[in-house]
Amino acid sequence: MILITGANGQVGTAFRSLLPEAAVLTRAELDLTSVGDIPGRLAGLTPSAIINCAAYTAVDRAEEEPDLANQINATAVQALAEYAAGAAIPLVTFSTDYVFDGTATEPYVESSPPHPINAYGRSKLAGERAATLAYPEALIVRTSWVFSATHRNFVKTILSAAAERRVRVVADQSGCPTFAPDLATATLRAVQEGVTGTLHTTNSGPTTWFELAREVCAVAGIDPDRIEPITTEEFPTRAPRPRYSVLGSERRAGLGLPELRPWRDALRVALGSSVGA
Ligand SMILES: NC(=O)c1ccc[n+]([C@@H]2O[C@H](COP(=O)([O-])OP(=O)(O)OC[C@H]3O[C@@H](n4cnc5c(N)ncnc54)[C@H](OP(=O)(O)O)[C@@H]3O)[C@@H](O)[C@H]2O)c1
Repeated sequence: MILITGANGQVGTAFRSLLPEAAVLTRAELDLTSVGDIPGRLAGLTPSAIINCAAYTAVDRAEEEPDLANQINATAVQALAEYAAGAAIPLVTFSTDYVFDGTATEPYVESSPPHPINAYGRSKLAGERAATLAYPEALIVRTSWVFSATHRNFVKTILSAAAERRVRVVADQSGCPTFAPDLATATLRAVQEGVTGTLHTTNSGPTTWFELAREVCAVAGIDPDRIEPITTEEFPTRAPRPRYSVLGSERRAGLGLPELRPWRDALRVALGSSVGA
């Protein structure tokens, strides 16, 4: 039986919908900071594969609690990888565009050198490395700008804010929005194909937060001019963000894996099920 950890998160929830028969672990059932509990808990479940959707994802707060971020994003991931290696079962764990520094001018591919510029990115890169070292057959899926109809995320925040007022949105950071159910479907396909190593998986096409926000409004019937462009400097955050974190893949075509649909199409689907929710 496939096991989904972080089952109440945004991506975990998408996997639960896709795999209703899967075993699940929430934080209440297994707190990954109790790293010593991980092997016994997994052995009791005897999963046939593990999809790790649990993570410390508070990008700004991670600057103040890097040790906690590391425990969940690296130490626990290593323990999961050690278990999966010992049991010889597939392991998927997720990583992020924030392992890159954002100085590139063309899409980052799987072999691009990572260089995180914030504590969250460093913890996720440490997790990638720990997983690979413990279990070279682990699948590490890097994704970015995840949205869904089910959880709090940028798309839903814009939807409710712009319905009320003008909203200032950063226009000089580029990335690839990714619909959680599309990520889950594409990742499951990669697992079924036996893909290992690092794989970039996002919906197709880059954009900026500003353009994404305008598109959210357009789809939802809100005047897109309610969205005002600002610079990163006008919206300071505790954790610096990469200016350009567009992910591309040098592997998908060779592996016979299809590109994901354009993010605009996925956004329509997401909003179709969340407008008014
Ligand atoms: N969201 C994005 O834009 C984005 C972008 C790039 C990469 N990613 C990666 O994609 C993956 C999934 O992200 P997501 O958007 O689904 O994040 P999420 O919604 O924040 O979900 C993370 C899950 O991890 C659980 N968790 C946190 N600390 C835990 C602990 N100590 N023990 C056990 N479980 C714990 C959370 O439990 P609770 O429900 O109890 O809080 C939550 O269910 C992560 O690896 C993330 O780094 C996400």
